[in-house]
Amino acid sequence: MKPYINIRNIQNKTALVLTLIYFTLLLSCNTALNTPQSRNSSNNENISVPQGFPPVPEPPDNPITLEKIELGRRLFYEKKLSKNGDMPSCSHCMKQENAFADNTNFSKGNNNEPEYRRNMSLINAAYRKNLFWDGRGKAIEQPAYRSLFLPFILGSDTNVLQKRLEETPDYPEMFRKAFGKDAKPSAYYVSKAIATFVRTFISGNSAYDKYIHGDSSAMDKSAISGKELFFSDKTKCSRCHSGFLFTDGLFHNTAITAHYFDFGRYYITGKNNDKGKFLTPTLRNIEVRKPYMHDGSILSLEEVIEHYNNGGKNWYTKDTLIKPLNLTVQDKKDLLSFLKSLTDHEFLSNPKYKNPNSMR
Ligand code: HEC
Repeated sequence: MKPYINIRNIQNKTALVLTLIYFTLLLSCNTALNTPQSRNSSNNENISVPQGFPPVPEPPDNPITLEKIELGRRLFYEKKLSKNGDMPSCSHCMKQENAFADNTNFSKGNNNEPEYRRNMSLINAAYRKNLFWDGRGKAIEQPAYRSLFLPFILGSDTNVLQKRLEETPDYPEMFRKAFGKDAKPSAYYVSKAIATFVRTFISGNSAYDKYIHGDSSAMDKSAISGKELFFSDKTKCSRCHSGFLFTDGLFHNTAITAHYFDFGRYYITGKNNDKGKFLTPTLRNIEVRKPYMHDGSILSLEEVIEHYNNGGKNWYTKDTLIKPLNLTVQDKKDLLSFLKSLTDHEFLSNPKYKNPNSMR
C-alpha cells in the first residue's frame, strides 16, 4: 500500500488544481466509509498491548474482531487485489521485516511509476491522529480504500475486484463472518478488513521498552548514554520524537535540504509557513527502515545524526530546535546505539503478521 499523492507532476498551478479536484472527488466517493456498518460488537482484547501502551483506539464504525483481522491479513497479501493479479497488494510495499514500510526510497506500484515520497511505516498506526508525511489521512480505512484503485498503487476496478474475490473459495464466507450475512466481498469491506489487520501492528517490545520496564540488562552502556542524550536539553530530540510513539504527531521542518520542492504540509493547509514541514515520524524500528526522511535522501542513521549535529541547512521554516549540537564522536555512537535499541525483533518476525496465503 503506497498511499501518497504522486506529486511528481505538480509543477504548476493548473496541475495542482486538477490534483486537488481529483482527490476531492475521491474523498467524496469515500464518505460511505464513515457510515456505521459493522454488526459485530467491540472486541478490543483481540489486540494485545505492550506494557506502557494505552488500549488501542477502536473506530465505532469498524470494531476490531478476530474475523476481520483474519480476513484483513489474507487481503493484505492478496494478489487478486492488484490490477494484473501479480502484486501481493499492500505487502508489495509494506514489508514486515521493514516494520511495514518499504526498503526503498520510491516504491513502485501497479504501473511501475516510482512514488514521490517514502512510505511511512504502518506500525502503531492505530494510535495516530494524522497519517502520511503531510497529515492528509485520518482513518486507516480511507487510504486502504483509495489504494485499491489509484493507478500507481493497485490500479484495480470495483467490479473486477469483487468478482475475483467472489470466485475464490473461502472469501465469500469470510466476508459474511466478518461483516454479516449479507456482506459481499466489496472494496468497501476489503478496506475495512485491511484497516483492522493494520490496527494490530502494535510494536512496543524493544530493548528500550524492556529496559524502562525494569530489565537493566536489556540496554548496554552506550545505548543508555544515548538514551540520556536523546531525552536531554543538549539534543532536544525528544521534544519532537516524544511519548510512547516517539512522535508529537505534529509537523516540523528539519532543513534536510536548502531546496525543498516537495512542500509537504503546505499542500494540505495552503500556508506559506508550512512549506517544507513534515509529520514527525516514529523512531520505533528505525534501524530496519532505511533510507530515511520523507524523500529517502539520507541513507544511514549515522548520516541522520550528522545532519542534526550540523544543525541542518538553511530553509525559512526551519524549526528553532534544529541547531548545531557539538556532539563528540562518542555522543554520536551512543545516540546510534540508542536508536538501535528501539528495534522490536519480536514484532519483525512475529508469525501472526506473516502471509497466511503462503501457509496454505
Ligand atoms: C523539530 C522537531 C525535531 C527534532 C528536534 C528532531 N527531529 Fe528527528 N525528525 C523530525 C521530522 C519532522 C522528521 C522528518 C523530516 C523529513 O522527512 O523531512 C524527522 C526525522 C528523523 C529521522 C528519520 C525517520 C524516518 O522514518 O525516516 C530520525 C532517525 C530522526 N529524526 C532522529 C532524530 C534525532 C536523533 C534527533 C535529535 C538529535 C531528532 N530527530 C530531533 C522532527 C524532529
